[in-house]
Amino acid sequence: MHAASAFTLSGRDLLGIEGLIASEITGLLDLAEEFVELNRQIEKKRTTLRGRTQINLFFEASTRTQSSFEIAGKRLGADVMNMSVGSSSVKKGETLIDTAITLNAMHPDILVVRHHASGAVALLARKVDCCVVNAGDGAHEHPTQALLDALTIRRNKGRIAGLTVAICGDVLHSRVARSNIILLHTLGAKVRVVAPSTLLPAGIESLGVEVFRTMEEGLKDADIVMMLRLQRERMAGSFIPSVKEYFHYFGLDELKLRHAAPDALVMHPGPMNRGVEIDSAVADGPRSLIREQVEMGVAVRMAVLDTLARKLPNA
Ligand code: NCD
Repeated sequence: MHAASAFTLSGRDLLGIEGLIASEITGLLDLAEEFVELNRQIEKKRTTLRGRTQINLFFEASTRTQSSFEIAGKRLGADVMNMSVGSSSVKKGETLIDTAITLNAMHPDILVVRHHASGAVALLARKVDCCVVNAGDGAHEHPTQALLDALTIRRNKGRIAGLTVAICGDVLHSRVARSNIILLHTLGAKVRVVAPSTLLPAGIESLGVEVFRTMEEGLKDADIVMMLRLQRERMAGSFIPSVKEYFHYFGLDELKLRHAAPDALVMHPGPMNRGVEIDSAVADGPRSLIREQVEMGVAVRMAVLDTLARKLPNA
């Protein structure tokens, strides 16, 4: 068997990075490395989740996260069902809790949930008997994104401890930023956030990050430049003067990237707004890890599902 397969998480669910200890994070990353190799083979199937039912319950639009969880579950042998809010009873006024109780009665083993409200996934987890994976809740957490980012960084830089990571853009609305800040901190990286004041949450310094308001200062000698999408669907009112001005000051182009370390690498969780937070030449350039992040996403989600499934009753 595999070296990492004896590894477990302390909880039944994965609701966030907050609360995980360093060895749990590195345990998941080590296991994910095995799945990276598996996913590059012709035969990609395992049987860890054989007989198990996984429901992907997405109350918010998603392409890569939902398909990534679906592929991950299927490669491990689960029966995977996708439920999107557009076609569910939620449209008819059913509450989150009623939806949870209804699904629970069908005896799923794993629920993968995305919801637009922070805390909704944790609330749902308390109402069901199966294990729950948070696939993004409001501006709170997106744990598997932070794990796949960490795996991508570790594979390219050989380590995480001691690196300087600049997270740039719409930090205010970003669950990706929050989960990444907590994870990178736990593993010993130095984390900076770079954004205009209107896109920074109050008290962000309490998460242990250094705050910069210009790309020139914030990118200086950074090893990793992580760009965030401008989350216009979460913005009530006007947070930026104009998209053109935002790109001028905060969009990552070749010129701004020169402030980072000479071997700095660029990341973005997707979906990207080209010409808003990132220039196409950088997104598609030799220092971009964006496509690799998507590949790592499947491997990390397999590691999470595999680990949680080993704690299910009768596993
Ligand atoms: C992120 C999300 O949904 O939080 N995307 C993703 O998971 N692929 C980031 C974003 O939407 O900007």
